[in-house]
Amino acid sequence: MRIKAVFVCLLTALILACSQKDSTSKPEGPYFGNGFHNGWADQESIVIWTRLTKEKEGNMEGQQFLSISKDEMDLLDENPSKEKIHSAQIPQGFDLDDMEGACPGSPGEVKLAYFPINQPDKKMELPWVAVNNDENFTHQWQLEGLTADTEYQVILEARGGSETGVSDKIEGKFYLPPKAEQEKEISFTIVSCHDYLRKDQPDGHQIYRSMLKLDPDFYVHTGDIEYYDKQEPWAMTEELMRFKWDRLFALPLQREFWTQNTSYFMKDDHDALRNDAFPGMSYGTVSWERGLEIFDQEQFPSNSKPYKTIRWGKDLQIWITEGRNYRSRNTDPDQRGKTIWGETQKQWLFTTMQESDATFKVLITNDPILGPDRDNKSDNYANSNFKYEGDEIRDFLNQFENTFITCGDRHWQYVTHYEDTNLWEFGSGSGADQHAGGWKQEDVRPEHRFLRVKGGYLFAKVFQEDGKAAISFQHHDVDGNMVHEEIFYAN
Ligand SMILES: [Fe+2]
Repeated sequence: MRIKAVFVCLLTALILACSQKDSTSKPEGPYFGNGFHNGWADQESIVIWTRLTKEKEGNMEGQQFLSISKDEMDLLDENPSKEKIHSAQIPQGFDLDDMEGACPGSPGEVKLAYFPINQPDKKMELPWVAVNNDENFTHQWQLEGLTADTEYQVILEARGGSETGVSDKIEGKFYLPPKAEQEKEISFTIVSCHDYLRKDQPDGHQIYRSMLKLDPDFYVHTGDIEYYDKQEPWAMTEELMRFKWDRLFALPLQREFWTQNTSYFMKDDHDALRNDAFPGMSYGTVSWERGLEIFDQEQFPSNSKPYKTIRWGKDLQIWITEGRNYRSRNTDPDQRGKTIWGETQKQWLFTTMQESDATFKVLITNDPILGPDRDNKSDNYANSNFKYEGDEIRDFLNQFENTFITCGDRHWQYVTHYEDTNLWEFGSGSGADQHAGGWKQEDVRPEHRFLRVKGGYLFAKVFQEDGKAAISFQHHDVDGNMVHEEIFYAN
């Protein structure tokens, strides 16, 4: 009898030990290999985007894509077949998940909690929600009712399903803009044009390390965040487009910066579809409409409209414009009605700029408005094929003092100012030195106040000096060294 009791005790202990081991061992995924990023922040709202992945990191030991020439790519593009596009670029016996940088998605559930930093008692916890398997395993939250001029902590948790434990947890933060009546020093960075292929560090782009040190209040990427129409692979199918996002978002330098900073992501031609893209075009098997959808609805935080103006305190208001969705065909004759922004967005811009009482107005556009640009280009307001609407916009902007244009797209850093006008334009340049080019360093025009054919970013700051509001625009190299500065005092 006694032996039997001991045996039962031992058995119970063993079962208990086993079940305890089960409940404490961490499930293997899903993970947040792409971290999270945010978008469209204003005084009371922000959108948070995330994606679940099979692994915690991108596959840096993966296979190399087969290199095919631009001519071969053109042939595949003319007569597109998903099978041919993939087999021409993915080595036989492998699939996309085996390739270098791959960060495949995973089904599962995510949970978001947030609270003003240092006030964890105000924590808001949202319910577990399944990621959307049809949208590349992503999920977005639109957070409302937040407080202006407040830094929030974000905590994300992942799990396979309601029966499994938490498999990953990441943290980050964002900062919401101060209200229109608040006088506050504000700094921000503007970046353009980078991709996985032309990264300057094994773990991403150096600019993200440099900008993290500056701790800006917000950051804007003006587009060409990745290039579908560049090799390894030429992304002529939806699968390859998503692959390129998954790979870029897994880069540690990018991921770290995006989880820590209020961001605004714009798109341009290469991440909408292809070079100088306009409505009606396709790339391989992907239509124009699908290209816009993948960017606007799936891979980045979504907004009801892809443009927005945001007040950043008393002295600053920014306008973020959309330069692809509403444009005419680049090849149409230049005349009244030919447009890049579309009539509705243009009138919105004109009205909101006229109504603004911010000390400084900063228009952030994908592409140049002043230029100068190369004579053979035909994609932006600085080009002769968009002169009609370009002149209308330049005339409109010229009526305002303390108003500045900042833009991306061009792969050189510049400051342009036309004497006897109020027009200033700051081109951020590309995100890496090996991505720079397209202009000759010695081709300095009379309107150039600064020209540097190298990579880097733009760092701007609104501040008070001797009781006067001021704004500075600094060009930085990729390491964060200032290479040029213009300071303006409010008139
Ligand atoms: Fe570009």
